Amino acid sequence: MIKIAPSILSADFARLGAEVEDIRIGGADYVHFDVMDGCFVPNISIGIPVLKSLRKATELFIDVHLMIREPVRYAEAFCKAGADLVNFHVEADSEENIAAAIEIARKLGKKTGVTVKPNTPAEAVLPFLPAVDLILVMTVEPGFGGQHFMPNMLPKIETIRGYIEKNNSDCELEVDGGIDPETAPLVKRAGANVLVAGSAVFNRPDRSLAIREIRNA
Ligand code: DX5
Ligand code: ZN
Repeated sequence: MIKIAPSILSADFARLGAEVEDIRIGGADYVHFDVMDGCFVPNISIGIPVLKSLRKATELFIDVHLMIREPVRYAEAFCKAGADLVNFHVEADSEENIAAAIEIARKLGKKTGVTVKPNTPAEAVLPFLPAVDLILVMTVEPGFGGQHFMPNMLPKIETIRGYIEKNNSDCELEVDGGIDPETAPLVKRAGANVLVAGSAVFNRPDRSLAIREIRNA
């Protein structure tokens, strides 16, 4: 089943509760919550206090994408603030520390994921695959919404789908960046089953229609 995870990076943050209610009614499966620290990526977004408020405002599954250096430092805080799933970038620290971050989240009863940037090879997910619920493949350089989808990421999505079938068949495969009704069929065909979409959902007046168009594309 294809799941749609609208990214609130393109939402109106002054009306965040209403924006998230709009996508919930519109059929979103997850809400994708992008955290940026201005170091791991060249932008700063939202963090723990906003997650706490959003947790009180919605029952939607919150998928937290941590674009921060050394995320093990904050794994517990994001879990306690209300994340349902926490995504850690494999590039953000040593293998040992990323594994420790996953373990912290898992012990707190949360789902976990690892994320790879465009220049990171597929094999980088292998040490973590048995331990996680989701792999996130970036299809743009992380940091900003509204960028163009990178079609050269399709072989990597296929490769990781192959790893999942062999090693952890319940693991989900998520893609993030430049997903819209044009690019959605490409990533689905390559094996992705969770599609993040920021501008293609929140920049449209009818979010329900936008979600449906991506899901059915
Ligand atoms: C980018 C973020 C994305 C972003 C996607 O660094 O991780 O989640 O919001 O935005 P679109 O869908 O507009 O490319
Ligand atoms: Zn994201």
